Amino acid sequence: MTAPIKVLGIPGSLRAASFNRMALRAAGELAPEGMVFEACEIRDIPMYDGDLEAAEGLPDSVKAFRAKIHAADALVITTPEYNASISGVLKNAIDWASRPPQQPLDGKPIAILGTSPGALGTVRAQAHLRQILANLNGLVLVQPNVMIGGAGQRFDATGALTDEPTREFVRGLMAALLVFTRKMKG
Ligand SMILES: Cc1cc2nc3c(=O)[nH]c(=O)nc-3n(C[C@H](O)[C@H](O)[C@H](O)COP(=O)(O)O)c2cc1C
Repeated sequence: MTAPIKVLGIPGSLRAASFNRMALRAAGELAPEGMVFEACEIRDIPMYDGDLEAAEGLPDSVKAFRAKIHAADALVITTPEYNASISGVLKNAIDWASRPPQQPLDGKPIAILGTSPGALGTVRAQAHLRQILANLNGLVLVQPNVMIGGAGQRFDATGALTDEPTREFVRGLMAALLVFTRKMKG
């Protein structure tokens, strides 16, 4: 029997009522058979400080984050759009994760998606996220692109993704990630 693909979900927002955490939850719920999904948080990761790193090495929260990435076969990252780019907290988490040795994004299959209340649904943030992850040799799934605009109309008060066409897009993304990750694992 084929071993299940382990997927780590990373939300790019700290907000309790984050639409992007809701989207991540939907990604986990809509993952196909053959995948096990676990989400993490990036709240405890401090701001990157090279002096701190030189004096004390990687903080425990960063070590734990990197260990989770290493242990995962694939990642799903949901990004908000802040001023036409990704959130500072997500960039900061990626910056810490990228430090040597054995940077854990190298060769990792990654699906990205994002949601915002605006019409463009994080199209600009996702372009930047692709560029950042490519620099780390992260293997970002090329298609499908999942940009969820009008976030306020797509989730209910409990945080569930209720918009059926959007659920179909997210389901398709997770199915594509499964196929891609199996291919990459050989
Ligand atoms: C500083 C700031 C900049 C923002 N810039 C954009 C933007 O460029 N494009 C966009 O669609 N939404 C923008 N927004 C709105 C966010 O998309 C919205 O707050 C979203 O809900 C954040 O994601 P979250 O719900 O996962 O926390 C901005 C919000 C903030 C606080």
